[in-house]
Amino acid sequence: MLLKQSLTTILLSLPAFVLSARGHHTVPPPPPLGRCGVLPENFQFKSDPKLPDPFTFVNGAPVETKLEFSCRQEEVRQLFQRFELGTLPPKPEKITSSVSNGNITITVTNEGKSITFNPTTPTQPMQQVHSQCIPLPANAASIVLNNNDIALQNDASSRGIGKFYDLYGTNATASSMIAWTWAIGRIIDVLESTPGHLNVDLTKIGVTGCSRNGKGALVAGAFEPRITLTIPQESGSGGAGCWRISDSMLSNGTVTQTASEIVQENVWFSVAFDQFVNDTSLLPFDHHMLAGLVAPRALLVIDNTGIDWLGPESVWGCMKTANTVWQALGIPDHMGVSQVGNHDHCAFPAIEQPDLTPFFDKFFGNNPSANTTVIKTDGADGLGFVDAQWIDWKVPRIR
Ligand SMILES: *[C@@H]1O[C@H](CO)[C@@H](O)[C@H](O)[C@H]1NC(C)=O
Ligand SMILES: *[C@@H]1O[C@H](CO)[C@@H](O)[C@H](O)[C@H]1NC(C)=O
Ligand SMILES: *[C@@H]1O[C@H](CO)[C@@H](O)[C@H](O)[C@H]1NC(C)=O
Ligand SMILES: *[C@@H]1O[C@H](CO)[C@@H](O)[C@H](O)[C@H]1NC(C)=O
Ligand SMILES: *[C@@H]1O[C@H](CO)[C@@H](O)[C@H](O)[C@H]1NC(C)=O
Repeated sequence: MLLKQSLTTILLSLPAFVLSARGHHTVPPPPPLGRCGVLPENFQFKSDPKLPDPFTFVNGAPVETKLEFSCRQEEVRQLFQRFELGTLPPKPEKITSSVSNGNITITVTNEGKSITFNPTTPTQPMQQVHSQCIPLPANAASIVLNNNDIALQNDASSRGIGKFYDLYGTNATASSMIAWTWAIGRIIDVLESTPGHLNVDLTKIGVTGCSRNGKGALVAGAFEPRITLTIPQESGSGGAGCWRISDSMLSNGTVTQTASEIVQENVWFSVAFDQFVNDTSLLPFDHHMLAGLVAPRALLVIDNTGIDWLGPESVWGCMKTANTVWQALGIPDHMGVSQVGNHDHCAFPAIEQPDLTPFFDKFFGNNPSANTTVIKTDGADGLGFVDAQWIDWKVPRIR
């Protein structure tokens, strides 16, 4: 064994990827999805100023069963790829790997091109390596992906730069966040194919990251089904915030990040998203539905009430609404949101530890009864979020 700890944690560069391990458990394949529909080529947009209904298919059919909800999630993944994030390529033709003192070297080959990247495994506690990181359990180890190496995120001129684009072409539609998700998938491929590499429990894989990398962590959790626990930290607009609510905040005079600003700032989203940024009511989804793609797996959103730019009202309303997905599935406590102010951006305050620890205990440890009921903000009056103003659909009880 390369790591002495029995729990293994994977982190990305800043979008930390938490992987937890106990021995070499493997994950059974997911049940077949049945006949999921394919999105029509000519999508009919209709303006919806409220948060769209996660439980109704594009064709108007309601979601009643878990199998139908899986299909609805596939539909929503298609919508996000087409209109916001770009296409996540399938597993590439060939992946080889080696490990040296815990660091992994991964070489991916596809259609005659190859790239090599090196996720690292720090030996010190994660917070000493990355100050912008939630505290990880003492018996956890980490894998860190240098996500900028995969898809650069300096500014708007970073489009198409990074090893992902060396492999798939600078014209790939994938945004940087989808490219990172792809790379995380390749790390998990390696762990699955060579379990001895890092003593990883494949049933306890997690992801975390803060700020822009918190956005990336949420997208990874939404698109990579092998991730058990997703913990975006202070991801703001473009992460745990909803575009529509952020727009409403700005029009009410709060200087906060919105879709129209974000697409000029960086390459986190695909160019196809540009057409919506001045009228987000046309989007057939919002980020409560991005979060809902993580279900039935676990999601804990760590957020900051004190920084307007992050859109605290937006994140609170969006994630409180996202919890309806887990409510519908009968597991509301598998998704939490904890929003606390009075601290620097990405500095995890000790007061939030009691919200975080039960998630690790329940989903990475061996305490299935840990209390993970965490839906809270320290913002006054629930930050003024009124469900009825944003939600005009009912939460079904999915069978
Ligand atoms: C692993 O990667 C880290 C970060 O790049 C580096 O400091 C360390 O020397 C590497 N260890 C090995 C054995 O290559
Ligand atoms: C691909 O991208 C290059 C610039 O990198 C551009 O000149 C070219 O037109 C693009 N091709 C297609 C098919 O979009
Ligand atoms: C913006 O102000 C309107 C009118 O007072 C209010 O209904 C709405 O909830 C506010 N938006 C947010 C995000 O608080
Ligand atoms: C959105 O509106 C702004 C301000 O009017 C404009 O500068 C920008 O080009 C518009 N963006 C798109 C993608 O149409
Ligand atoms: C779990 O925690 C929540 C929030 O603190 C609390 O309301 C609830 O009573 C707790 N449940 C149990 C079974 O202790």
